[in-house]
Amino acid sequence: MIITTTNKKGGTGKTTLNTLLAEFLYQHGQKVLIIGLDPNCSISEVYGKVLQDQNSKLLLTGREVQPYLLKEHTSGGTLSIIPEDLDLSMLSNVMDTKLKHEIKKQGFAEKYDYIIIDPPGTWNAQTRNAVFAADTIIVSGKCSPLDFKATLQYMDTLQDCCLESEVFVVCNAYNKNRDPGNIWEQYKNAFGDFMIENPIPLVNSFQKLVQNPNYKIPVTVEKRMMNFIQTVTGKEWA
Ligand SMILES: Nc1ncnc2c1ncn2[C@@H]1O[C@H](COP(=O)(O)OP(=O)(O)OP(=O)(O)O)[C@@H](O)[C@H]1O
Ligand SMILES: [Mg+2]
Repeated sequence: MIITTTNKKGGTGKTTLNTLLAEFLYQHGQKVLIIGLDPNCSISEVYGKVLQDQNSKLLLTGREVQPYLLKEHTSGGTLSIIPEDLDLSMLSNVMDTKLKHEIKKQGFAEKYDYIIIDPPGTWNAQTRNAVFAADTIIVSGKCSPLDFKATLQYMDTLQDCCLESEVFVVCNAYNKNRDPGNIWEQYKNAFGDFMIENPIPLVNSFQKLVQNPNYKIPVTVEKRMMNFIQTVTGKEWA
């Protein structure tokens, strides 16, 4: 399954959610590949693997790329990445379906249970590649008026693309006390069936999660994320 978390606006929690999703699936015995497509090198920064020889710029130019195996879990799960290259933004004329084509050509869909793509927070060639390659698209927006507006506009953009993928909207970094304008209600009213049932709470343990290979997602966090992960993957996870 190929999953892309996206929005046209920066800072909506795409990389955080992608990282969390990848770590969860990895800890549950899945073979996971993260492809970073943000020229700001978010995935490289999260995992400290900046400018590896094997990167997504090469992938988008049709070269054979060997994903970098980050860690193996006792559950049998593996977590690999194809990190970004700082030069990725120079690839502005690449075809929108190039990544989809390369994933197929290089057999990644057979080698990995989940491929998670992390695009930039803008509508450009990298984002279109991430969106066009996905079976499932998650549109992430924080619980703020600006993110809500961006998400409304972005859903129209996606609709114009006539995609066949599943699309979900998720409200991120929600804290009841920090939502006096009731933005969460506005999300639910505007996006109806597209909306993931529960918002993602404010969570502060992501850094520990990625830095310590033996770090276990805290049970409370895992429980609160379960609805998101089950909806997106379409599977029950114990
Ligand atoms: N659920 C959450 N709880 C707490 N903090 C969060 C949560 N989601 C995101 N953040 C914080 O919000 C900031 C932006 O998150 P993140 O980098 O994931 O967004 P992004 O959409 O990937 O940004 P960009 O567009 O720059 O790629 C970070 O400081 C991150 O730690
Ligand atoms: Mg990001």
